[in-house]
Amino acid sequence: MECRLLEHRHHAGKPQILVVDDEAVICDILRDFLEFEGFHVETASSGEHALGVFGANQFDLVLTDLKMPGIDGLDLIRRIADLERDTMTIIMTGFGTVETAIDAMKRGAFDYILKPFKPEEVVRVLRRALEKQGLERENLALRETVGFYELSEALSSTMALDEQLAMIADLVRNNFGAEGVSIAVGDPKSPGAYRTRAARGKNGFQVEHDALVQTFVAGESVLAHGEDVGRWLTNNNGEPSPTSFMAAPLKVRGATFGVVYAHTARQGTRFTEGQRKGLSIFGGRAANAIENARMYQNLEEIFTQTMEGFARALEAKDPYTHGHSDRVSVYSKLIASAMGLPEPDVKRIGHGGLMHDIGKIGIRNTDLNKAQKLTPEEYVMFKSHPIQGRRIIEPVAFLSHLVPCVYCHHEAWDGSGYPEGLVGEAIPLEARIMAVADSYDAMTSNRPYRKALPHEIAVAEFKRCSGRQFDPEVVKAFLDAISAYREKLREKGLPVPD
Ligand SMILES: [Fe+2]
Repeated sequence: MECRLLEHRHHAGKPQILVVDDEAVICDILRDFLEFEGFHVETASSGEHALGVFGANQFDLVLTDLKMPGIDGLDLIRRIADLERDTMTIIMTGFGTVETAIDAMKRGAFDYILKPFKPEEVVRVLRRALEKQGLERENLALRETVGFYELSEALSSTMALDEQLAMIADLVRNNFGAEGVSIAVGDPKSPGAYRTRAARGKNGFQVEHDALVQTFVAGESVLAHGEDVGRWLTNNNGEPSPTSFMAAPLKVRGATFGVVYAHTARQGTRFTEGQRKGLSIFGGRAANAIENARMYQNLEEIFTQTMEGFARALEAKDPYTHGHSDRVSVYSKLIASAMGLPEPDVKRIGHGGLMHDIGKIGIRNTDLNKAQKLTPEEYVMFKSHPIQGRRIIEPVAFLSHLVPCVYCHHEAWDGSGYPEGLVGEAIPLEARIMAVADSYDAMTSNRPYRKALPHEIAVAEFKRCSGRQFDPEVVKAFLDAISAYREKLREKGLPVPD
């Protein structure tokens, strides 16, 4: 009598069991009994047969005879383990082969049952195996949920790119028990070159990035164990070679531009197909983070170029102030950095420098370029440029954060400035910085009404006016930083004010 082989159907809720025995009567007895106990059972009459059935179905547990012609029980267990599913295996064996059964357990079998067996005993062992499997599955699901939760938390924050990538590498390492994790991105300028953007744990290997990327492009996945790992990396650091390796692509809009990979050299640890899929999800997040940072950077460049364009437009009107906005921008950033302001503030103040005199665009040319003193009316007109500037940029969403620089850069520390006559710290810090940067460049540049003053005279003037026209803290930061800056320009052979 042949063992019965059922077609695969969905058997909702019931544990799926595959019974493998070359004795048909054992298959039949076990099927009838186990189905009665609430399991769904399929049977196979040989190891070969079992592999065919196993490949086409999802089984929670395989119960197999040890001694069979062809692929025997031991071999079957090994092959099932190679398929990376979490299927439990139990071996059935007669007296005298217990040692082989123990061997099977070393290869991953959950337990063995001695023939002849009582059906209740089989049920008991099966239930124990399924209970363990259930716990492991829950545990895995929980760990993955926690990992992905942390990931989404991290990436929804305003964390800098490098921190985000480091966090992703950490999560991969912790969630998948990897000993080393790397995120590498191809260099668009030199094909075949890859730059590691984040790495955690041991990573002293030469990894075949190009081969990995080509594999992903071909639509294949990378999960390797034992000797197969050597296809992806060269171990030349003398440490134990990885026993398991997995990799996933970094992709945006279908294009692969990098890889995330993980390895372990721990004996008996192998990444599973599920973990490789998990790594793909982490890779997707890393790719998004990198892409967002790139787009943000592009946007920022466009923003800076736009403001440089405004500054050019302004200076085209007034040749005497050629390069003034650029230099005020540079000096402002110099002061902001010397005062220890955070990078985003330094950038903003630099942009403010480019834009500070934008209001002069609204003033008649003749009122700006005069060798003689301005008439009182002209002076009133000139003094309106911070107000004009605010009027121009305030309604523009991407410029309105520069209003304090534009509107308040002629305020004075002692309250003698304009347009508001603000005193001390009531003047926004960026405007106090701008006032020093603006005055330094004004003093050390030629003007229609006078020649440029030497650097030392300008320095003396700042010392004299510190605490009067200028914020003393700002003056101090400027004087601390300007000498080193001039030195740097000289080294590069660039001109500095005399
Ligand atoms: Fe100004």
